[in-house]
This record gives sequence, C-alpha cells and structure tokens, in this order.
Amino acid sequence: MSVVASVRNLSKIYRKPGTNVEVHALRSLDLDINEGEYTAIMGASGSGKSTLMNILGCLDQPTIGSYILGEQDISSLPDDELSEIRSKRIGFIFQNFNLIQQLTVLENLEVPMFYMGIPPNERRRRATELAEKVGLAERLDHRPMQLSGGQQQRVCIARAMINDPLILLADEPTGALDSKTGQQILELFDELVTQGRTIILVTHDPSVAHRCDRIIYLHDGRVSKDVHNTQREVNVEGAQLAAGI
Ligand SMILES: Nc1ncnc2c1ncn2[C@@H]1O[C@H](COP(=O)(O)OP(=O)(O)OP(=O)(O)O)[C@@H](O)[C@H]1O
Ligand SMILES: [Mg+2]
Repeated sequence: MSVVASVRNLSKIYRKPGTNVEVHALRSLDLDINEGEYTAIMGASGSGKSTLMNILGCLDQPTIGSYILGEQDISSLPDDELSEIRSKRIGFIFQNFNLIQQLTVLENLEVPMFYMGIPPNERRRRATELAEKVGLAERLDHRPMQLSGGQQQRVCIARAMINDPLILLADEPTGALDSKTGQQILELFDELVTQGRTIILVTHDPSVAHRCDRIIYLHDGRVSKDVHNTQREVNVEGAQLAAGI
C-alpha cells in the first residue's frame, strides 16, 4: 500500500494576537495515510482535529515539522504555491457547505474548473457527470437555497472531487445534518472508498468513526490511539452492493 500523506514531528503553535500566550494545538505528531484508506479522526473539542485537517488540506502550515503529500514536500512552501497544491491535489468538504448562493448546482461545480482553465464545454460535461455521481441529476439548475442540507453537502462532495484529489478531507461532514441525511452522506463516502478514494473525516460520533478503516484519536495535540477497524469490511460489502459492484 502506498503512502499518500506523511507528516513527521508536526507541531502547530498559535500565538494569541498582541500577547505572548502560545497555544500548542499539535505536538510532534507523526502520521502516515495510505492510499485508499478511510480514516476517522476523533478527540475532545480543542484536541487539534481541525488544525490537523487544515494542515493536511494545505489551508494552513505547521510551525514545525514536515508534510509530504504524494511525492512532494510541502511543509515550507510559500502561500501561493500551497494554494496551488490545494486546488490541484486536495478535496476539502466543509461542515457548512460554503456554496455560492447565487449560482446553480452546475455553476457551483463549474467555478473551480473555470479557475483551472478548463474550456466551457468540458466544464459543463464534467460538472454534470459529477452531479450525477452524487445523486443530483434532477437538481442541476437548483440554487443552494432550493436544496436540502444533504443535497447541499452532496454538491460539496462533488465539488471536492473535481480535481481528482489525492485525499478527500471532511471536517465533521454530517455535523449540520439530521441523522437520516447524515447516514446518506456516509453511504456516499462508503461508495467513494470502494472506488478507491482516500478519505479522512473528523467526527465526534463513534458510530460514524466505526464505519472507517482506521480511527485516530487525538488528545491535547498528540495521537493517543491509532486503531485499525476490522468491522469495516462488512460496510465495504454493503457499499459494494449499493454501488452495484
Ligand atoms: N486561529 C487560532 N488561533 C489561536 N488558537 C487557535 C486557533 N485555531 C485553533 N486554536 C486553538 O488550538 C487548539 C486546537 O483547536 P482545533 O480547532 O484544532 O480543535 P478541534 O479538535 O477541531 O476542536 P472542535 O472539536 O471543537 O472542533 C484549541 O485550543 C484552539 O483554541
Ligand atoms: Mg474542529
């Protein structure tokens, strides 16, 4: 199994503005994420989960330590290069969707492709294909306001896959959804994993974490437990059935 993301001795220290007060959000963390792995990150509020996701997602940089994504060491890249890596190699799914309200489902999916320099016809073709993949074929011309929370989250998932990312990162992807809708989003993740995607999600919900191959527990900025979940195989079979594989 090949490693897609590898961090070593990773620390993140935030400094409160205008003071000398430091917050050690991550402390000398080592972690390897394998290709195709479905990982949950758990831990108490303030344990560093979002900080880790933001670094893995190239939204932020570590204070100390290295991060190799794919083959590339990205720990000390300048901001503009980091954001280029983010737009090419990372898919980030936010809890609160971050969709553009004035645009339709298709247009929301086309915007990032516009910035990637993809021609209009190709943009439309790929946006339609992605929307269909996440079960939104009937909603292409709807605006976010006209969609349910679960449907909006599906748009985000489709958007996160536009660049065929090395990793899909989701910080509490079902946090804003009711349990039934959350369940459907998790089934979509199961399907994506069976198709070979590498997914890391943050959750407070043990039943969500137990759908994953691996559960990493953070405590006070350190990995306190890293567990491989053998139960997961059952879910893979279920998802394969659902996906008709
Ligand atoms: N921009 C920031 N500036 C200063 N401190 C920060 C900043 N972002 C996070 N922190 C601090 O870093 C620590 C880790 O925060 P983080 O957001 O990673 O926690 P979390 O595990 O995601 O928590 P939650 O479950 O509540 O989302 C916390 O003590 C937090 O207050
Ligand atoms: Mg958080």
